[in-house]
Amino acid sequence: MTTAYPPGPRLPRPIQTLMYAKWRGALLTAAAKRYGDVFTLHLVEPYADNVVVFSRPEHIREIFAGDPADLHAGEGNRLLVYIMGEHSVLLTDEAEHARARRLLMPAFAGSSLRGYRTLVEAITKSHIDRWATGSTVNTLDRMNDLTLDIIMQVVFGMTDERRRGDLAPRLRRIVNINPIIFLGWKYPRLAKYGPWKRFDANQAAINDLLYNEIAERRARPDLDQRADVLSRLLAVGSGENPSDTPLSDEELRDQLVTLLLAGHETTASALSWACHELAAHPDIQATARKAAHDGDDKYLEAVLKEAMRRHTVIAATGRKLTRDMTIGGLDLPRGTVVSTSILLAHSRLDSYPDEATFRPDRFLDGSVSPNTWLPFGGGVRRCLGAGFSLMEGTAVLKELLTRHTLSLPTGNPTERARTRNITHVPAHGAPILLTPNPSH
Ligand code: HEM
Repeated sequence: MTTAYPPGPRLPRPIQTLMYAKWRGALLTAAAKRYGDVFTLHLVEPYADNVVVFSRPEHIREIFAGDPADLHAGEGNRLLVYIMGEHSVLLTDEAEHARARRLLMPAFAGSSLRGYRTLVEAITKSHIDRWATGSTVNTLDRMNDLTLDIIMQVVFGMTDERRRGDLAPRLRRIVNINPIIFLGWKYPRLAKYGPWKRFDANQAAINDLLYNEIAERRARPDLDQRADVLSRLLAVGSGENPSDTPLSDEELRDQLVTLLLAGHETTASALSWACHELAAHPDIQATARKAAHDGDDKYLEAVLKEAMRRHTVIAATGRKLTRDMTIGGLDLPRGTVVSTSILLAHSRLDSYPDEATFRPDRFLDGSVSPNTWLPFGGGVRRCLGAGFSLMEGTAVLKELLTRHTLSLPTGNPTERARTRNITHVPAHGAPILLTPNPSH
């Protein structure tokens, strides 16, 4: 197929790549303004060569409804293989992806989520107990500690506090990875030196911890009574589903690393933005506090959803075409990556005429149309942890608002987004002043 890609920024590829890595929001917004609803970015490694960016609801629907054999999501994320492994549910496609998803899904279904809530609440209480009141806290850091602890205990079922203490800083090192490390994967000889050597040592230490946990758990006699994801995965091939092939230790490791990493900083960023917005809008905070007291989870969930709309956590999803295809009326060749821009979809004026206003009620009054709110992506690749993160975020907001009033520290009224590798986070960590509520 000979194709003229839709026009886009004409900057040299390395410059576009640098801007995409460092100032994604600014690049996408400027390109949409200049080139309209559909445009092309021309990038270099680690990104795809030609990325066609879409944000119109009908285009989003078309991409998410496409055949997963034609639109590979796993292939679009190859860089993460070095961290998450070949078998990761995020990085595989077609049959292998379908198997991983089928095995993981039950642990994230509604009935399982209800079972996790009590433990999530207990962990949240113990963390908030340790937050200093009357002083300014960096909510991004505090939320990162909390969500990582939740994922280690609830999803992973890791009860050994010392092992959690060993694992947490090592996982954080990966989240904060210096992009220079990516070069080491292209040039393996670098592995002998400085940052690349340290990165490999960190990976090896994480693997040791995970393989030890897997081995100990395999030996436990009470596996079938445990609800965590690791125990459920270890039970595959026995009990209720004897016809499935059990997961190998490598498969287990890859899925665990994926869940640990995909499942904490994302929720932490959404929660820290929610705290920032609640502090900036005392009227909305008062409604949210009443909802927390009354046990009205729906309003708290709406606060979280609006925080994710207003401050996109992950800017886009990507699908690599495995054959020539027509999408949005455009003929695109095999190998093109089609990107659904979450960031642009959430700020379109035809979807959100008051896009700059923080208004949780829009999620309760039916004014959010299909395919306009997509923080968790969509189709067969929709985020596996979407329900988990909403349950978790709601429980955290409930506990926090019941106990504290949030306000912005003097001289810190605004916050902006920063691209941290994959996620967008508040650049200054969304600092908040915590004042105990009178009843506490
Ligand atoms: C606010 C929190 C979160 C956000 C914004 C978020 C966002 C996303 C997005 C945009 C995708 C890609 C979807 C696509 O390509 O269509 C994704 C995939 C995924 N997420 Fe999340 N996520 C969050 C929390 C979580 C949590 C808590 C977990 C696990 C406990 C999780 C596990 C995953 C997994 C395993 C995938 C891969 C799904 C697949 O490829 O089939 N995420 N997430």
